[in-house]
Amino acid sequence: MQERINKLLQEVETLAAGTKEQVEEYRFKWLSKKGEVSTLFDEFRTVPNELKKEIGQKLNHLRTKAEEKINELKEAYEARHQDTGKAVDLTLPGLPVAQAGSRHPLTLVKNQIIEIFSSIGFTVSDGKEIEDDWHNFSALNTPENHPARDMQDTFYVNLNPEMVLRTQTSSVQVHIMQQQKPPIRTVSPGRVYRNEAISARAHCQFHQVEGLYIDEKVSFADLKQTLAHFTKEMFGADTKIRLRPSYFPFTEPSAEMDISCTICKGKGCNVCKYTGWVEILGCGMVDPQVLINCGIDEKKYRGFAFGMGIERITMLKYQVKDLRLFFENDVRFLKQFTSA
Ligand code: DAH
Repeated sequence: MQERINKLLQEVETLAAGTKEQVEEYRFKWLSKKGEVSTLFDEFRTVPNELKKEIGQKLNHLRTKAEEKINELKEAYEARHQDTGKAVDLTLPGLPVAQAGSRHPLTLVKNQIIEIFSSIGFTVSDGKEIEDDWHNFSALNTPENHPARDMQDTFYVNLNPEMVLRTQTSSVQVHIMQQQKPPIRTVSPGRVYRNEAISARAHCQFHQVEGLYIDEKVSFADLKQTLAHFTKEMFGADTKIRLRPSYFPFTEPSAEMDISCTICKGKGCNVCKYTGWVEILGCGMVDPQVLINCGIDEKKYRGFAFGMGIERITMLKYQVKDLRLFFENDVRFLKQFTSA
């Protein structure tokens, strides 16, 4: 009983109310016939005689505290809503926020990615979620009937001309190159869509961050260094990277990057499928034809690009096993993430 009284004493201190209804709710919960305090007084009858004095004092103290606190909240509410005709007293202390919200884990990770790239000179750029076919595919060396289009099941929007829900943030690269002169160094975060069956590992919407660097002497070594720096900042200094040759229509050469598994530290577990490595992004040197498509002098300039999935990185960072949790808005999941 002592413990319960102590706990309630602490709780009563933290009560904060914004509305009249909340104050009334507190009064009911704490001070009504069936409230916390009365219930304890009922139980008090069963307390052994030798403890009665001590516990009785505590109980009275709790009742006084609860009454004081609730009256105080009521007065504060009334003071705020009294039309006295006088100026507002700006020196009054503010009311505590009863329960602060928290940022979505994908936002936390996106912000961290942006912060890392901003600190090495990348700007942040935005694109459109409804895109024309040319920006999403053709300009990126993926003309109609190109087999690479099958890699990304596309949602088409029936407009004239036909549009798509972008399948990749690579479309933002094209807009940027059309609009800006090199040197260009930018990251573009955003949502993308693919017509996939929803499961623990796939969703019809997810998020990517695209990176693009165009200048006179950009090399594959720059790409590797940039990604190695990003990985260490994001996952810790002891995380290793591995680049595997791959294929994307808009980069040549292309690669996929794995990082040493952050969960088992490379020893092998079910997240890395016992390989010690997990893939986190695709990258490569921008294909000169893409530079030409976007009006950039391909003889003078070169560039690298990369694209990473924010969900994948968040799952690794916070050990989330099911992609669907990110979109269900279940507060029991969301409130585990504290905002920075
Ligand atoms: N757009 C690719 C995808 O969604 C990812 C990607 C790969 C982006 C290589 C790039 C890149 O910029 O260079 O699968």
